[in-house]
Amino acid sequence: MDEFIDKLKSLLFMAKVVVVRCLQWGDTGKGKVIDVLSPWADIIIRPLGGPNAGHTIYLNGKPMIFHSLPSGIIKDRDGKINLLGSGMVIDPKSLIEEIELLKSQGFSCENLKISQKANLILPTHILEDRLREYLSGNGKIGTTGKGVGPAYTDHVARTGLTVNDLLNPQVFRSKLLRNIEQKMLLFKGVDLKIIEQVLSSSDLNLGKYFSPDNIINVEDICEDYFAYGRTLEKFIIDAEKFIRENIGKKRILLEGAQGLLLSINYGTYPFVTCSDPSLEGMVKGAGLSMSDVDLDLGIIKGFMETRVGEGPFPTEIGDIHSRSFCSKCPNKEDEKFRYPGPYSINHPDPFLQGIALRRKAKEYGATTKRPRRVGWLDLVLLKHALQSGAKDTKLVLTKLDVLSGVKTINVCVEYKYVGPDYRYGQKLFKTGDRVSSPPMYSEFLAYCEPVYKSFPGWSKDISKLKNYSDMPQQLKNILEFIYQNLKTEPVILSVGPNPEETLVIDFFSEEKI
Ligand code: GDP
Ligand code: IMO
Ligand code: MG
Repeated sequence: MDEFIDKLKSLLFMAKVVVVRCLQWGDTGKGKVIDVLSPWADIIIRPLGGPNAGHTIYLNGKPMIFHSLPSGIIKDRDGKINLLGSGMVIDPKSLIEEIELLKSQGFSCENLKISQKANLILPTHILEDRLREYLSGNGKIGTTGKGVGPAYTDHVARTGLTVNDLLNPQVFRSKLLRNIEQKMLLFKGVDLKIIEQVLSSSDLNLGKYFSPDNIINVEDICEDYFAYGRTLEKFIIDAEKFIRENIGKKRILLEGAQGLLLSINYGTYPFVTCSDPSLEGMVKGAGLSMSDVDLDLGIIKGFMETRVGEGPFPTEIGDIHSRSFCSKCPNKEDEKFRYPGPYSINHPDPFLQGIALRRKAKEYGATTKRPRRVGWLDLVLLKHALQSGAKDTKLVLTKLDVLSGVKTINVCVEYKYVGPDYRYGQKLFKTGDRVSSPPMYSEFLAYCEPVYKSFPGWSKDISKLKNYSDMPQQLKNILEFIYQNLKTEPVILSVGPNPEETLVIDFFSEEKI
């Protein structure tokens, strides 16, 4: 343990701002990594996203999931400040429920702060999110249904409401009226029964906001949001001023949400979220600038990646079969019902191998419970992620333990394009072309077949290992291959969900053979 802390200290040496973010489609273990690093930090900031996130940490062997609160909130009693940054979208109802749950477990949340500039999620945003998905049919994004997209969209459309409006009821009411007036253009075209059904669904319980005459009960929303404002007002601060006062003095840890491939700017558009979880997006959402960042930690899953929701996934194990299967299953129980077995992690049928890997790795959404689609590590997309809004990124690899026992591990090194002619700027892609730097559009990525380099796996359980030198040679070979391809140094390896199942490595001085 002492050696671990020494190595961690040398990794963070002299740093004042450290960023932890995901380089894939989310769910790479940001919560766990933040938990491991939080003893170092004075201030932990969630710069963006909202309740669409689900970050898991293990405390004394038990899982805790955070949606809007930073994962450092359990260190609140040590005086650490947890800030919900200006780039977030906040659903006050679900935030208060999260705070209440924590308090009932003995956590104080006394040092929580909320940026006055964060945007508000309204019940009508949740309704809009779900209606748009419903009306899109097969073209749906597979959102989390938490109202995140519409809340960000309203910000850009100049009709959004902010946390600060909770402090000024008259301002809140007039902005809400204006906002709802615009929303009526959508709602009036939809069968009222569907609107009522969506608002009343059991996971939302927002039925009281439905009005058979006016569609939405604006006064009820006002009343509830004023009450939320009274509960949250002690946490609301001028975040820009707070950051200015603390930058350079306090140690700041930024907790990413979602992942680079879900970025509105850099992700697999349009199957993305509506924020920008790149380094620059996070820095902006926290009220910092790129030059403030001392260490940028990009997380990937150790040799297997996941995606939840719709969208292209070139290395998906089981391909279209897996995609359509996962799209139909709302949760793990339903998946088991639809396919009780047999399956195995070395099954020759990739679809069945994928099911086994998902179950072994427990890949089910922390927010929506949906089965996560699983696939092999994709170096083409990882290279793109490292080039997009990044700065001397260092790698963190999580979930390495779940691949123990897998006989062959595939790593995607390039794509073969098999679609119709596609122009991208001055370039013309034709079927059969090898691609190492693809356009990040779904209509292109959907026609990309992975070209793999295959590696032999390892059999021993690695979850108890504390030293890199004890790691199986097969694992080291893959890590070395990734380094040679990306020239990006791995610095942290995670071999289990608990904080102590973590290794900090000095890759260049570790013995390779
Ligand atoms: P996040 O959204 O990036 O914070 O990740 P999630 O919490 O949604 O999903 C990651 C899941 O993997 C959680 O259940 C974690 O407890 C778990 N996890 C994190 N690191 C490891 C690891 O190294 N090994 C294993 N087996 N599980 C891990
Ligand atoms: P964390 O922080 C995985 C996905 C949704 C959907 C798309 C858009 O736990 O890694 P949205 O509700 O944001 O409009 O949905 O983005 N998505 C996530 N996938 N992890 C997340 O967060 C996600 N947040 C959003 O599944 O495909
Ligand atoms: Mg998650």
